[in-house]
Amino acid sequence: MEKLSDFISGIIEGRDPDLYGHHQRIGKIAMLFAQHIGCSAEDSELLAIGARIHDIGKLSINEHILNKPTQLTATEFSLIRQHTEIGERLLAPLKLDVRIAEIVRFHHENYDGSGYPQGLAGEEIPFLSRVVRVLDSLDALTSNRPYHPRVSCDEALCVMQRDSHVYDPFLLESCCEMMNKHLIEV
Ligand SMILES: [Fe+2]
Repeated sequence: MEKLSDFISGIIEGRDPDLYGHHQRIGKIAMLFAQHIGCSAEDSELLAIGARIHDIGKLSINEHILNKPTQLTATEFSLIRQHTEIGERLLAPLKLDVRIAEIVRFHHENYDGSGYPQGLAGEEIPFLSRVVRVLDSLDALTSNRPYHPRVSCDEALCVMQRDSHVYDPFLLESCCEMMNKHLIEV
């Protein structure tokens, strides 16, 4: 399973160079975080795999849109939003654990119900998907992207606390705690 997730994340990063290293980093942080919040060994493994392949649906999105350095139009944004459902469909033939499929489908759902694809809220969003929502934001903010330069880990956590309504409050708090405790720089 680990080789499969290495393979998939290599392909995603090959198409979208701005994501280089993103999947390895988020996989590592996911393992640490799982330990920090006391996940079972099984959930930790599923989380690490799901965290690394959560953006697989981006393989089906036009690369000019994915790598566009300027603001996306509403149409382009709605195409990018489809990567969650496309990813779930791409993985379906592999019949992976349902919790991995849920990470892929629901990693952009927001705790306050403002996310996509379904607008689920609170605990309607599967637990591991809520975890990836937090870790994905942390990693995105601390990485250079075409539309924003990276910020420090402390700044990223401040930004996330300002937008706290989109994250599971327990998970956001636990993430801040872990980053402070281990003084991790992502
Ligand atoms: Fe995504």
